[in-house]
Amino acid sequence: MKKSKVTLHPSYVVGDISPRLFGAFLEPIGSMVNGTMYNPKHPTADEQGFRGDVIEGLKKAGVPAVRLPGGNFVSGWRWKDSIGPKEERKQNLDLAWGQFIPNDVGHDEYLQWAEKIGAEAMYTINLGTGDLNDAIDIVEYTNFPGETYWSDLRIKNGHKDPYGVKVWYLGNEMDGPWQIASYEKDPKGYGILAHEVSKVMKFTDPSIETVACVSSCPFLSHYPDWDRKVLEECYESVDYISLHHYHSAPVGDIGALMAGVNAYEDYIRTEIALSDYMKTKYRSKHTMMISLDEYASSWREPKKASWGLNGRLPASTFYQFDPAKKLIHHDPDNMAAGGPPMLTGEVVSAVANASIGLLMLRHADRVKIGCATGGLSMYCASNHDNVWKGASYYTMTQLHEWAKGKSIMPVTETDTYHVDSYAIDDQNQYADIDNVPYVTAAAAYDEEKGELNVFVINGDWEDEHEFTLDVRGFGDYKLVENLVMADDGTMERNSHGNQTLHCPRPVSDAKVENGILSTVLKKLSWNVFRFEKN
Ligand code: AHR
Repeated sequence: MKKSKVTLHPSYVVGDISPRLFGAFLEPIGSMVNGTMYNPKHPTADEQGFRGDVIEGLKKAGVPAVRLPGGNFVSGWRWKDSIGPKEERKQNLDLAWGQFIPNDVGHDEYLQWAEKIGAEAMYTINLGTGDLNDAIDIVEYTNFPGETYWSDLRIKNGHKDPYGVKVWYLGNEMDGPWQIASYEKDPKGYGILAHEVSKVMKFTDPSIETVACVSSCPFLSHYPDWDRKVLEECYESVDYISLHHYHSAPVGDIGALMAGVNAYEDYIRTEIALSDYMKTKYRSKHTMMISLDEYASSWREPKKASWGLNGRLPASTFYQFDPAKKLIHHDPDNMAAGGPPMLTGEVVSAVANASIGLLMLRHADRVKIGCATGGLSMYCASNHDNVWKGASYYTMTQLHEWAKGKSIMPVTETDTYHVDSYAIDDQNQYADIDNVPYVTAAAAYDEEKGELNVFVINGDWEDEHEFTLDVRGFGDYKLVENLVMADDGTMERNSHGNQTLHCPRPVSDAKVENGILSTVLKKLSWNVFRFEKN
């Protein structure tokens, strides 16, 4: 059996844990909006056509924040066509995803749905086809109390109080050659635009925070130089930078899936380094924070790959058009246009995504926002008829509920493994990944409440680990609960009929002697150790 050890001490404080760390990302593609959020024909639908079962599920789960309404979609979306009486709204094309957008779910509906689920809405504005006026108007409509054209229109449209949206994303993936009105070829131009837009949005509502795009994926060959050029122009005027990354592994290759954490770590570290370089360059007092607002680790079927390694995919791939392409017409009562199913029921997917959560906690001083793609279905899995709790429900809710206070840096001693290079497709090509740790951890310490919660993942798919957790530095703390969810090797998922096939269950085999806990970590397991002050 392999051995792993984690040492924690209350002096090793990383930083304050942000309440926005375990949020979700929402965009009207597949069935995320049509079918899941919105289906006027669903038996639980409310007066706005929102599914009541989904609202209830998300509310109970406590999802803290949602980044909306996209995504690539937003770079061509005319939000002004989506407000007011539904029958007067315009149906537009979404050129990013090749779909009709009837705008039955519009600007107000997105924000009101977020209110209904009790989550903070974090809003992405259109900086593709949208301009400076749009940016001013949207803040005025959304946040201004009244006595201007746009704020009075919001009141007329039924929302008297300002929505009070605090976090605003200045475009989506503006470096991506796939983006409508991309700044791929002009980082300086985007940086200047982000600076000016942030400035006027803050003139309109000085309480807001803004987020600029950096490279939307560490695979793009212009990363991280594009990012540096952007930050040179807007470092002082924005509060966060937006990171996106989708880690993919060939179906069934658990080692490659779990290695995602190394890619995210490199990406976060690089963006922190770049930001801090700017801080020094500008002799600034401002410290840039990180928003990892689209992420997921998931399985993908490899396709034949033809280009070189790591993002040398020619951008021209995105300028090719298929004359036979059909536009998607959504029917909210038919989720078949749905896109790939999110893997939320199986433990290995839950654990792989939770390992990114632990990574964010280990960088809690700088990573202040996290939005999982598919995060809403992690909090509340659903199909056409029902909702249920997948394995990710438990990891997400436990992280959100128990990762409070200060993040403590774990010192982890564990074996590592190597992943050989692999390709999923022309864009997702991985060089070998060295030093992937089997065991990763994070810890949250709330001194006032006298709580220490330790999250440990054993990503080892072959071996259990003899595990030691040294919490001697905390003195008078006793273990009050130990929960474990482990893969049983079947890869079966929870379902509406069986929501606890996989769920963390209390165990009592951990021994604690003089502040040193010892136990055995099961293969591919999620482990929570909860301590309280005596
Ligand atoms: O989640 C799907 C897409 O992935 C989003 O629209 C975009 O931001 C990213 O490329």
